[in-house]
Amino acid sequence: MAARDEGPHTGALPVGQVEEYLVGTLDELPEVGGAVVELGGRRVAVVRDSKGAVHAIDDTCSHANVSLAEGEVHGDTIECWLHGSEFDLNDGHPLSLPATQPVAVHTVRIDGSSIYVAIAS
Ligand code: FES
Repeated sequence: MAARDEGPHTGALPVGQVEEYLVGTLDELPEVGGAVVELGGRRVAVVRDSKGAVHAIDDTCSHANVSLAEGEVHGDTIECWLHGSEFDLNDGHPLSLPATQPVAVHTVRIDGSSIYVAIAS
């Protein structure tokens, strides 16, 4: 999935609170797995879980500076490839050590095959 930082699409959203971006289409995501997009200078992992739900979390692991999108998806969790912490894709919390801090979770909206991610400012 190529990053589509085409600027925020904020028409239906409160100005100054969230910025919503078109990040790509469902067919650009792996069947199960993630891709990185850069939204307003922030790296976000857009991840399809094993049930087909799409999530968006900050891409950088809270334990060290590596990409979570490169991790393996199990159900609705993603495992950091470096030290194995498992993160809940629904709330960003780590479910296993060594990570102890959550990563931010962003709101995903699917419209047809388009994926939109809203970033809290
Ligand atoms: S860098 Fe992710 S668990 Fe260590």
